[in-house]
This record gives sequence, C-alpha cells and structure tokens, in this order.
Amino acid sequence: MKHIFLFISFCILFLSCNDEKQKSLSSAEDTSEIQKTWWKEAVIYQIYPRSFKDTDGDGVGDLKGIIEKLDYIDSLGVNMVWLNPIYSSPNADNGYDISNYREIMDEFGTMEDFDLMLSELHKRDIKFVMDVVVNHSSDEHKWFQESRKSRDNPYRDYYHWWPAEKGKPNYRYSLFDPKGDAWKYDSITNAYYLHYFSAKQPDLKWENPKVRQEVYDIMKFWAEKGVDGFRLDAFQFVSKDTTFPPLPEGYEKDVIKYYGMGPNLHEYLKELNKEVLSKYDVFAVSEGAGSSFADAHSLVDADRNELQMAYHFKGMDVGNSLDRYELSEFKEVYTQWDSAFAKEGWLSIFLANHDVPRMVSKFGNDSPEFRAASSKMLNTFILTMRGTPYCYYGDELGMTNIAFDSISQYQDIVAKNGYQKTLNEGGDIEQYMAELKFLSRDNGRTPMQWNATEHAGFTDGTPWLPVNDNYKEVNVAVQQNDPNSILNYFRKMVKFRMDNPVLVYGDYELILPDNDQVYAYTRKLEEDKMLILLNFSSENVQIEIPEPIKDLELLTNNLDQVSAQGNNIQLQPYQALIYSYK
Ligand code: GLC
Repeated sequence: MKHIFLFISFCILFLSCNDEKQKSLSSAEDTSEIQKTWWKEAVIYQIYPRSFKDTDGDGVGDLKGIIEKLDYIDSLGVNMVWLNPIYSSPNADNGYDISNYREIMDEFGTMEDFDLMLSELHKRDIKFVMDVVVNHSSDEHKWFQESRKSRDNPYRDYYHWWPAEKGKPNYRYSLFDPKGDAWKYDSITNAYYLHYFSAKQPDLKWENPKVRQEVYDIMKFWAEKGVDGFRLDAFQFVSKDTTFPPLPEGYEKDVIKYYGMGPNLHEYLKELNKEVLSKYDVFAVSEGAGSSFADAHSLVDADRNELQMAYHFKGMDVGNSLDRYELSEFKEVYTQWDSAFAKEGWLSIFLANHDVPRMVSKFGNDSPEFRAASSKMLNTFILTMRGTPYCYYGDELGMTNIAFDSISQYQDIVAKNGYQKTLNEGGDIEQYMAELKFLSRDNGRTPMQWNATEHAGFTDGTPWLPVNDNYKEVNVAVQQNDPNSILNYFRKMVKFRMDNPVLVYGDYELILPDNDQVYAYTRKLEEDKMLILLNFSSENVQIEIPEPIKDLELLTNNLDQVSAQGNNIQLQPYQALIYSYK
C-alpha cells in the first residue's frame, strides 16, 4: 500500500515580496552565489479551502471564510498563500477534478469572492498561488463530454483514447482506481481512455498542441487577474509515450520513474514558460521533481527557462509506514538534497500537505505531553532550512491526525478506492485499515480549529469531515493569548526567518551526523553563522558541540530552560535551540 501514499507528494507555490516583511532580506548584501529572488524569501501558508472556514453553514469552507480570516493569516507573518483547487468541480477528488477552469466551485463562492480575496491578500502584501490541475480534467468537463461522443469529435484528441478493435491497450497502473487499471472502456465509441488517477480524472493529451494552448490561455486568464504563482499539479506526468509500450512487471512500485519526466516534458515546459510565465511576474512549481537530483535540476535551474522551484517527494516519502522512520534517513534526505542544490536551483521545504498525515503525528509526537514541544521543534526545522518553507494550515497550532477506525468515516477517494482494491485482491484489510489510520490523506484535511465552540468554530452546520476531538485544547482562541503557545512560537519563528537572511540563503552544514536523536546543523552567510539543534526524540539527550557554549549566543528556545556547560548541552525532549556564533 506504500505506493498509494507514495505518489502523493507534490505541490507548489508562489509569492512575492512585501515591503515590510521582505525589507530585511532585500537589503541584504548579495554575497551568496545563489541569485536572490522574492519567492526564495517567502514563507508559504497552504490552505485546504474545504476545511478552513465555512461562512454559509453548508459544512464546507469557502472563500468568504478565507476573507474573514485574512487578518489571522497576516498575523502569522507569512507572505504567500497557496490554496488547493477552487475551480468548478464535481469533487470526485476534492477539486482535483476540474469541470471548468474559469469558474469558482459553487461551494466555495463566486468569482467576485475570488477577486475580493485576491485584492485583500495583496493589500496585506501577501502573494497568492493558484493550483493548476492539467494532467487531467474532470470527466464532467465539456472537453471530455464532447471527446467521448464520437471518434471524429473536434475534442476527441484532447484525451488519450485507445480503439478497442486494436485489443486491450498495454497495462497502465492507476493510482486511484479500485482495480488499479488506468484504462477505462467507454462503450459509446468502443474505446478505452486513460486515467492515471481516478476514472473521473481522464488524462489530457498534451501531445495535442490545442490542449497546450488551452492550458496557457487558462493560466493567462488567472495571471491577468493578478495571481502571483502557479502550482502545477502532477505535472511531471503530462508527457507520455503515446504508443503506450509494455512496461516491466511491477513497475507501479516506482510510478514516478515510469510516468514522470516523459519524452516531451521539457519542450512543453519551455513553451509554457515562453507563453505564460515569462510574461508575468509569477513563479511556478511542478509538483514532483522526477526521480533524481538531475531531473529536479533540469526542471528548475535558471538557465533552463522552465520552472522555478522543485517540490520533490523524498522528504515526504520518509516515514510512510507504521514502522515510522529513523532520524538518520531523515537527515540523509535533507542533507543530500540541500547539497545537490547548494549552488543552483531551488527547493521547497515542507513536512505536510493535503496528501499526507499531520506533521506532528508523523514526524513528531502527538501525545498531550509532547505535542507542543515537538510541533515547535518541527516548525523550527521548516523555518531554518534552505529552501522555501511551506507551512500547512493547522500545523501552526499542532493539529494532529484524526485517526479514523472505520472505512465509513473516510471521505478521501484514495482511502475508499484503496479499500475496495484491497478487498478485490484479497489483501490484508486489517493491515490496510491500520495503515490508513496513520497515513490517510483525511488525517490532514480535518477542519481548522478556531475555538472551543461546537465544530471548533469552523461551521454552524455539519462539517464535511469531522473536527478532531482535541479541538478544545488545540485551537486558535486558546493559543492566541498564551505567550508560550505553538501558535505564538510559530509567529516568532516566521519573523525570525524573515529577519535573518542567513536562514534563507546561508550555507547548510550537518554536524553530529551520527547522532540518531538530534538533528544539528549550521547555516552560514558571510559573517553570520547560526547553530540549530533539534532533539527529535522524547528523551533527554546530551550532546557535545564543536565550540564552547561561551562562544555562542542563544537566540531562540522552544522550551524554558537550557542546560549547557563547556561544549556540552543537555537537550530536553523535542527541544529546539538556535544559537548564533559571537
Ligand atoms: C496531486 C494532488 C492530489 C491529487 C492528485 C490528482 O497529487 O496533490 O491531492 O489527488 O494530484 O490530481
């Protein structure tokens, strides 16, 4: 089942500088070899719009809800917002199945709401990133409705069709299908169509120049409205070998290798860059970055004229099992990726999104004893690494997995179809449910916890997905006035990053590489050098650092005390310390 979750890690975002928030960085001397740019200096806040704030009582979040909470978002100090898709959609995959790319989903509001939201974000110097889902559309999109009507319909070639008289096409694995089959037979024209995701998400045929032009026109439509960036959903999959040759047995265990980075991908990206990105002050990230450093560089290095930022899945792939993860693996992934991108290209840094479990449940410790400390420690990690941080809504509060027990509680198409697939194949359903409880995407999609009133202040109606039971302790209202809360620590750390260019551009160096409880590293930009110490364990850990403590100055601490002497520091469970070198 690992692959069900595996594929899921991509995303993107954008932003730009806002005078106040970016001043300190923009005025920094240009000494780094890496070119300085506003979207590298951004801190992105990702909002799952269905779950943020409902204003009309239908149990589903909406754009008016986001507008209502803009001052809250601003108070976090972030300067870019990425929303998951808000277009018209029948919601087979919560908006990742689009039926009209120029309309807002009814449940989310109207285009007027969108325009107001965008201008109010911009008034607060917060940039906006639009999710662009163009590997596939909804089967309810007009293009597909036309395409399936007849073999000579003008839209026929917008999708991948395989005439049945040629026999069944070679097997293609579908990430979401209950049978795992990406070819669906359609009797109207006696042909199969391709769907890498669910049957309600037919893949668009990028090999058709008309399809590409449609996509560029859609992106221009939103760029003209003033969006600042695009996240290209599942984009590494768009280019395909349309002869659909047989693939090796078991290839679906490495879908990205076989579906990603297709033969014409770079040609399409260069075209997209020329037609859209180069014409506006926007940036774009492709969700997923191929299978290697070289793939990722080929997508985002400046001289490529393709995209700007890589959102690779290697960090997200750590810990995708009930066995959890080893810190050594975690450190290795982040260290290797950082060094591969030290001179050229740019990465995203994130520990959660709408496709994975809650950060604190997966990488920290969500027990009441350690939830706060470990949430703060993980936020310290995201905000002190090189790469643009992506902070997922609710992680500033320490929101945790909801951990459903019964399949009837799940809403996600991946959970439901995966359940069906496991049954169809006679798999171990208990094991499946245990993994789902920990890894399901619904864990990260529960409603935002605003206060201790019913449904956590998310809605007056019945929430589309239940609110986590811990909302009375974990919510904005409770944390707002507590100077030691996760929320106020998060605000402090966002500001700290914005105030310290060394955390954006400085060189990264791993220290204490063999310590399996503590992640320790330095960041250095010219004379500025910081030491970051993160205890990823629930134990007190004694470490020896290279310099005596008297040569360091403590800048931030997620707990109250520090016990240090000479070169020795005793870190409490999940303690996160940042020192500067005097
Ligand atoms: C991306 C999205 C995921 C979606 C899939 C299909 O992976 O992040 O949520 O289900 O693409 O569009």
